[in-house]
Amino acid sequence: MTESMQNKYLALQEFIVDARSNLGDNEWGYIVGGAETETSQRRNRMAIEKLALRPRVLNDVSKVDCSTNLFGKRTPLPVLLCPIGGLESFDPEGAVSVARGAGAFGVPMMLSSVSKRPLAEVADTLETSAKATGSEAERSSVILQLYARENAAGIDATVDRCIDNGATTFCVTVDSAVYSRRERDIVARYKKPWRAVGEGDAAYFQAALNWQDIKRIRQRFPGKLILKGIATAEDAAIAADHGIDYIYVSNHGGRQLDHALGTMDMLKEIAPEVRKNNPDTKLLVDGGFCRGTDVVKALALGAEAVGLGRMMCLALAASGSDGIVRMLELLEIELAATLALLGITSVAEIGPQHIQDSEALPFGHSLSAAFPLLKDFSYD
Ligand SMILES: Cc1cc2nc3c(=O)[nH]c(=O)nc-3n(C[C@H](O)[C@H](O)[C@H](O)COP(=O)(O)O)c2cc1C
Repeated sequence: MTESMQNKYLALQEFIVDARSNLGDNEWGYIVGGAETETSQRRNRMAIEKLALRPRVLNDVSKVDCSTNLFGKRTPLPVLLCPIGGLESFDPEGAVSVARGAGAFGVPMMLSSVSKRPLAEVADTLETSAKATGSEAERSSVILQLYARENAAGIDATVDRCIDNGATTFCVTVDSAVYSRRERDIVARYKKPWRAVGEGDAAYFQAALNWQDIKRIRQRFPGKLILKGIATAEDAAIAADHGIDYIYVSNHGGRQLDHALGTMDMLKEIAPEVRKNNPDTKLLVDGGFCRGTDVVKALALGAEAVGLGRMMCLALAASGSDGIVRMLELLEIELAATLALLGITSVAEIGPQHIQDSEALPFGHSLSAAFPLLKDFSYD
């Protein structure tokens, strides 16, 4: 990373400030908003906040390693970049910029099926960027995330395209049977260009998606399959029975069903069931993750990695692909410090012994809990 980037961003909160000044009101509202009362979104952060860490002392922590294995590759952090639609609202090159950042740092990224940039182009970009910096990411580090908005033949064609592109992992989002009501966008009359595809037949197929489709996709795709948006132990059990490799615990960043649980509370329900009945099934989680301590808490509850949604969008809007790399560097610095202060030297050592229930401090918007020093900052 260039020296100027290192000097420009010394703390994660600085991305929020720059993103706000670079974005128009509509694009800002599109990132920071959630569904209806935004309760699910606030609960995401609250569920993270109300866990406290339990430090151990007087262990040699002079060398700390934040890297881990994820989707069969070594990555410097237990983190993936979430699938995001409408990335061009934050950076003219959209997913291509994200791929440049993900490849340079070496983390996997998910590509939304509503992305304007094709999978092959994004995968090529990530591979080139990874080679230039010597990271271990490869073209298969781009994971296509599907919104099933076509009939079975259309979905199967997408699966085949991924296989042809060398994909070893594929993701289906299952928490979006219908569009939620995001009132920031609605009252601003903000019409998102990519939304048009969700009307007519597409809306029908999206709502009709069911376990039979998942069974068919499972039979067709030979690699690892992720279901994104599992929220209960009941559905996690059905997913595991369908041979799903990764249960991705998510409420879409509080952007779909309002008044759901925070995802860390969902993980508390889901992880013990999965560990008991399907120990080979892995867990991912997202929703409100912004800081190194957040990552530790998720791993302590049994997740393999956490997804960064808004934090990634804000870093991208602040400073493009370099912003993403610098954001990940700062997250790594925070995570390394947290591990050392917990008395451990690797993410593999994180366990339930490192967390306990506590209370969340009162806060307004979910981002103000993660970045309280921005107290004069408006998320409206
Ligand atoms: C602007 C924006 C666009 C999103 N687009 C998609 C998408 O296309 N597909 C999807 O599965 N999830 C989408 N999500 C949800 C994210 O993948 C992720 O689940 C969520 O952002 C995680 O919560 P966080 O933003 O608090 O980190 C989007 C989220 C945001 C903020």
